[in-house]
Amino acid sequence: MTRAINRQFLLAARPVGDIKESDFEYREEPIPSPKDDEVLVRTIYLSLDPTNRIWMSDMEQYMPPVEIGEVMRGGIIGVVEESKNPNFKQGDLVSGMLGWQDYAIALGNSGFSLTRLPNPLPCPLNAFTGPLGATGFTAYFGLLDIGQPKVGETVVVSAASGAVGSIVGQIAKIKGCRVVGITGSDEKCRWLTEELGFDAAINYKTGDLEKALA
Ligand SMILES: NC(=O)c1ccc[n+]([C@@H]2O[C@H](COP(=O)([O-])OP(=O)(O)OC[C@H]3O[C@@H](n4cnc5c(N)ncnc54)[C@H](OP(=O)(O)O)[C@@H]3O)[C@@H](O)[C@H]2O)c1
Repeated sequence: MTRAINRQFLLAARPVGDIKESDFEYREEPIPSPKDDEVLVRTIYLSLDPTNRIWMSDMEQYMPPVEIGEVMRGGIIGVVEESKNPNFKQGDLVSGMLGWQDYAIALGNSGFSLTRLPNPLPCPLNAFTGPLGATGFTAYFGLLDIGQPKVGETVVVSAASGAVGSIVGQIAKIKGCRVVGITGSDEKCRWLTEELGFDAAINYKTGDLEKALA
């Protein structure tokens, strides 16, 4: 349903330790209008990732830190609500780094690029925040290009039940490896072995990790 306001979360302070509610400012703004070559996008899904914590800090990192007072950066899946760009039309499903807000302007002079999703969709829409999004790419290229696993090798995955780790383990299985996952509960261990097909899983909170790996 279209909302009359644009709900936004801005970075209000650089977190110290864990993130606190006071590190953000909630704001309600009018929905912006696109200018020439721009589009208005309504967010459907927002991806919340560990790297968000890095973007909030001013440490050296792979992207510029989010500035205090800016809408918090975040990857989204959304739909084009209004288009003044000849390459995008109303109803197109898109992904982009449009931030923690209901609506954003992209393309043109906005500074935000967009990727159009396939039409018709080959899978559920939210897969583009997971296996077919940044987490999937990280798992795929991290394991195959950097790790270069060979058939019969053992692949050990830490944070194995997380968004990236769970995909890494499944790709490693497809590539003929023995896969061992490390995770933080017995329930997650069962999910890895019984549903995702990992060969073994270790609960690092209850066992002796070194002994279990050996
Ligand atoms: N998402 C991406 O596209 C991407 C890209 C590049 C790099 N990375 C990096 O890959 C790693 C995993 O990312 P992810 O997206 O898979 O993360 P995720 O889905 O949030 O999973 C992170 C896992 O870390 C464990 N964990 C340990 N301490 C935690 C804490 N205090 N709070 C929350 N979780 C905690 C949890 O598993 P247990 O309960 O098993 O401990 C959790 O499942 C991160 O270091 C991230 O920066 C991610």
